[in-house]
Amino acid sequence: MAVTNYVPLLVIVSCLLMLTSSSHGHYDKEHIPLFVFGDSLFDPGNNNYINTTPDFQANYWPYGVSYFHPASGRFSDGRILSDFIAEYAGLPLIPTYLDPQNDDFLYGANFASGGAGALVESNAGFVVDLKTQLEYFGDLEKQFRRNLGDAKAEQLLSNAVYMFGCGGNDYLSSVGNNDSILYPYTHEQYVRMVIGNLTDVIKGIYEKGGRKIAFATIPLLACWPSVRAGRVGNTCNEELDLISSLHNQELTKKLQELENHLDGFMYSKFDLANEVNKRMRNPSKYGTSELRNPSNLV
Ligand SMILES: *[C@@H]1O[C@H](CO)[C@@H](O)[C@H](O)[C@H]1NC(C)=O
Ligand SMILES: *[C@@H]1O[C@H](CO)[C@@H](O)[C@H](O)[C@H]1NC(C)=O
Repeated sequence: MAVTNYVPLLVIVSCLLMLTSSSHGHYDKEHIPLFVFGDSLFDPGNNNYINTTPDFQANYWPYGVSYFHPASGRFSDGRILSDFIAEYAGLPLIPTYLDPQNDDFLYGANFASGGAGALVESNAGFVVDLKTQLEYFGDLEKQFRRNLGDAKAEQLLSNAVYMFGCGGNDYLSSVGNNDSILYPYTHEQYVRMVIGNLTDVIKGIYEKGGRKIAFATIPLLACWPSVRAGRVGNTCNEELDLISSLHNQELTKKLQELENHLDGFMYSKFDLANEVNKRMRNPSKYGTSELRNPSNLV
């Protein structure tokens, strides 16, 4: 799979998913599930089922006002990216993994948790960090092997698309710690640690048989509403744009490196940073007349 910078994630993932057509209602070898990991960008309501605080949940007004009634736990007035991607790929809504009502994950599962980072320290105790999300996926892998047998389970896992949106919280959650963000680490050291942990999780997916990864870059965080809200004069914190950009550069390098070294590994990258930046700088052009930020999460 070629590197597909700057192509919208929806298009990329839909293509990955539709390389072969999927049919509903039963399992067959063309079946392509979607597994989703990350933070509030993709959380469909997992945080409703963990012990946390309302800051890390989105199951109340005005969340969900334009689509889910009542609010589903998505950090959005309506659907989130992963919902649209599933729809365009002809999949059902991907089930929220921690919702005890869900037990059929043949079309995929969504493990994302609002506020989660790649580092276990980021918002620890309030979120399901990415490593734990991978452990839950490991439980599901075992369940597939038990229920389908090894051969079918392996086919399902290698057909599947694994979509990630994670990393922004690793930088946001450190901002408050000190005037010099990320102290005692340099930007380079800290980014290496975040990317190192993301890489471990991608390798974990690969070891369990996953081959197709879709990754979103992190937003440029300097002018993020929650960042500005915490600063005198509501100024942007330009240091955060430097580190977000560095993260995205390193992510790009790492994905390319993994593709070069892991047999059968393919990825697509969505330049979320650029897409969000355009919308924050020129909201009316994209149909937003009023910007609000009811939560301090990515
Ligand atoms: C904040 O960072 C400075 C160095 O930039 C360091 O000297 C100081 O001890 C740090 N404070 C805390 C509370 O970590
Ligand atoms: C992952 O993050 C931890 C801190 O949570 C750090 O100690 C470790 O070195 C990181 N791993 C890699 C491979 O960078």
